[in-house]
Amino acid sequence: MTPRKIIIDTDPGQDDAVAILLALASPDEIDLLGITCVAGNVPLDLTARNARIVCELAGRPGTRVYAGCDRPLAHSLVTAEHVHGKTGLDGPVLPEPTMPLQDMHAVDFLIDTLRTASAGSVTLCPLGPLTNIATALTRAPDIAPRIDEIVLMGGAYFEVGNITPAAEFNIYVDPEAAQIVFRSGVPLTVMPLDVTHKALVTGPRNEAFRALGSRVGRAVAEMTDFFERFDLEKYGSEGAPLHDPCVIAYLIAPHLFSGRHINVEIETVSALTRGMTVADWWRVTDRAPNAMFMGDIHADGFFQLLTERLARL
Ligand code: BDR
Ligand code: CA
Repeated sequence: MTPRKIIIDTDPGQDDAVAILLALASPDEIDLLGITCVAGNVPLDLTARNARIVCELAGRPGTRVYAGCDRPLAHSLVTAEHVHGKTGLDGPVLPEPTMPLQDMHAVDFLIDTLRTASAGSVTLCPLGPLTNIATALTRAPDIAPRIDEIVLMGGAYFEVGNITPAAEFNIYVDPEAAQIVFRSGVPLTVMPLDVTHKALVTGPRNEAFRALGSRVGRAVAEMTDFFERFDLEKYGSEGAPLHDPCVIAYLIAPHLFSGRHINVEIETVSALTRGMTVADWWRVTDRAPNAMFMGDIHADGFFQLLTERLARL
């Protein structure tokens, strides 16, 4: 199998970090062309720092990391230190990165890569607000038909919202950007909270990470220890949801996920429901499907895959 060329667009975040580790641990399936950082869970300077910390943790300091947009298209930035801690990567003690941040802006890297790679050969994997991707699509509309697929974490239908009663964090932070992406005509696969709230790091699953006995295994277990306190308090759930790794797991093992090809629109206007993904799950409108909206995950298979891959780092 030829590895799939991807760009991870991200705002690390402990769960983003695990997604990056999963990608770097899977070179047979994934060729990571670069990591583009965006403001989201924490401001841009920290997401660009955290992405590099994670690459170094994986032993891959040659990975190209780019800084992108430092604020959403139309509104001020909303961050999530209440979930991820002050640095965005609270939990393990990890050294400051020494690998360089690339000089090029993330949006220029996205545009250049998509224009020079053969058409349909690059998949985008957004794990944060969609500001970088929307900016690239707006500035260079010719790249849209060149993107193989966008596989993203964001939105919710049955789970509704986690940052407001109606909206999931990534979409809520930049709904205008999300609207551009969902209307771009690019094939979309969406991992909403409906899936990721089933990818829970229970005690035994976290012990399996720790039992790897490696730096990576311990760091992931400590990230999860930190990250889970929020969900335990809020939802009383069994552990932290590993939202973003679902995107990468889908590329490696799509059979672990199931969903529906439906229409999804983004609410940008209403003060009450801004950032809502209005998903026509029951197909009650005649709006054309624009997204493969996932609804379920084989959680044990997902954690087996993740643990087995992390053991390779
Ligand atoms: C999403 O928001 C962030 O806090 C996580 O990293 C994930 O991408 C979940 O709503
Ligand atoms: Ca994220």
